[in-house]
Amino acid sequence: MSQSIRNSDQNEFNPDPSCPSRRTTPLHRGWAPREATANLADVRLLRVRRPRILHAVRNQSGADAGVADRPFRTAARHYKARPPYSADLGRALSEHLGWDGSGRLLDVGSGPGTIASELAPAFAEVIALDPEPEMLAEGKAGCRHSHVRWVEGRAEDIPLLGLGSFQAITLAQSLHRTDREMTLQIVHNSLKPGGALLLIHHALRGFGMPERPGFTAEFPAGPARIPPIPYEVIWDSIEGYLGFTPSPPAPDEERYMALLRRSVFAGCEELILPGRRDIIRTPESVLELLFSTSFAAPERFGPNLDEFRNEVLAKLYRLTDTGTFWDWPGDTEILIARKA
Ligand SMILES: C[S@@+](CC[C@H](N)C(=O)[O-])C[C@H]1O[C@@H](n2cnc3c(N)ncnc32)[C@H](O)[C@@H]1O
Repeated sequence: MSQSIRNSDQNEFNPDPSCPSRRTTPLHRGWAPREATANLADVRLLRVRRPRILHAVRNQSGADAGVADRPFRTAARHYKARPPYSADLGRALSEHLGWDGSGRLLDVGSGPGTIASELAPAFAEVIALDPEPEMLAEGKAGCRHSHVRWVEGRAEDIPLLGLGSFQAITLAQSLHRTDREMTLQIVHNSLKPGGALLLIHHALRGFGMPERPGFTAEFPAGPARIPPIPYEVIWDSIEGYLGFTPSPPAPDEERYMALLRRSVFAGCEELILPGRRDIIRTPESVLELLFSTSFAAPERFGPNLDEFRNEVLAKLYRLTDTGTFWDWPGDTEILIARKA
């Protein structure tokens, strides 16, 4: 198993931002991997030609209030399309943190229990906490572990929920959804001495872009004819229908490492595990991935949903000879902050 561990001070030499939620994965970043642009001659043309106002105006259907309150309500049922974290996650964390199956884990912003289910074998009891009932319903329906408990609530509600204390608390792609400083303090209060907070996310830095992206036993010839997901083309359609393109974060968005350093935890270490290199998607699966996001959740499109779906599918099919795309979510970065 290859992995790399750095502490937060050494990481100062790495200029890349570590704020993961929108910044470091292609899905959230608002730009395509360089290869995608190079392979797709018509991308730039597509980006400038759309009269974007039409769809955006038609989309003002009143559905937006619901999306604002519950951004993952209709995304939840598509969430299983999200790329998994590193295959080494459970084993590496158990070894590194000495989990022996006896402790308690709280997964905050669990979604459908991506991390709760993955790490369940390392704990005696697991609580998956999320404010979105549809996410919890998806989780309950798909989980094989009877010792995972599903609780509705926000990170900020933890002090009111009487959940007890934990050996580990995870936030995977969810800290950015909370009041970060308050959440870190609450998490610290909820950890047992010696327990650990883990912030988990996909990160394009780490081991870097795989040399032969997508190369696996199933694709021994390599993915030459399997282009990366053409995000720029997709952003263009989203912009046309919703009036915005998911954009890079504001430059003042604080890096998680810096946030942890000035929090009650006073620092963190960074563990990077190799990501999944072999995720191949059909155009339909790319669309599922999009619908799993808060910014392109199905209800955002109102009555234009089918039109949007057809437009994106038609574009995607035009851009692949094999009917497939390669999805590189990045490596898995875990920031680990311990309670003294
Ligand atoms: C991008 S999903 C991450 C799901 C899962 N942890 C994963 O890694 O796949 C973000 C989740 O955070 C949840 N969330 C939103 N606001 C929250 C809050 N204030 N406290 C805790 N979770 C929140 C959302 O409902 C959603 O399920």
